[in-house]
Amino acid sequence: MRILITAGGTREYIDPVRFISNASSGRMGYALVRAALKAGHKVTLITAPTTQRLPSGAKVVEVETAAQMFEAVKKGFEICNCLIMAAAVSDYTSARTAKTKIKKSNKSLTLKLKPTADILKWAGKHKRKNQIVVGFALEDRNLRQNAEIKLKEKNIDIIIANTSDAIGAGKSTVQIKTRDSSWTKIENATKAIIAKKVISIIIARRKYERR
Ligand code: CTP
Repeated sequence: MRILITAGGTREYIDPVRFISNASSGRMGYALVRAALKAGHKVTLITAPTTQRLPSGAKVVEVETAAQMFEAVKKGFEICNCLIMAAAVSDYTSARTAKTKIKKSNKSLTLKLKPTADILKWAGKHKRKNQIVVGFALEDRNLRQNAEIKLKEKNIDIIIANTSDAIGAGKSTVQIKTRDSSWTKIENATKAIIAKKVISIIIARRKYERR
């Protein structure tokens, strides 16, 4: 399969040197890249900045902002069989990016933000038959209920739900659901083990859809 994987937390600049981002380490996305390569798939990684070592064997596209990630996904989506959106994409970006460094003053400063495009939702809307779209859901309450809403509303095939404890952690607990299966829980496992399981669920799903 040709698998497109996004990873890392996007950066939304407010001026040339400052940005809004999140605590994503990129570990899950990079573990997925390694697991997919190990299983013999062709992998393109679209990555926001992380401290992870770039994987050899995958095509790598480096981006910074949510808008750049969206452009890269749009380009790669056409030719992939599967998209895994492991990136922590910023939901908001600065309404205006200052051209020069914002000078400090002793007055309060209000940042105006505007929503970014939901890349996963776009992919769910544009996916072709036999294309598998996988999303993550980071939930700090009503995990299964909220993740299932994302699975349906974004029209995707597989959702991987986790809590904010997973951010940057070596081990985590995730719950996985495909559109027509019940939940599978993987408890306190390394991201390598979780990634291997996710890839095997994708392969099973592809076989099921091709029957
Ligand atoms: N995602 C995306 N584009 C965005 C925001 C999120 O593609 N602008 C993707 C993420 O990569 C992830 C999934 O959507 O696979 C869910 O992300 P999450 O942060 O859990 O949820 P949101 O859709 O952003 O909703 P909320 O923050 O309200 O829970």
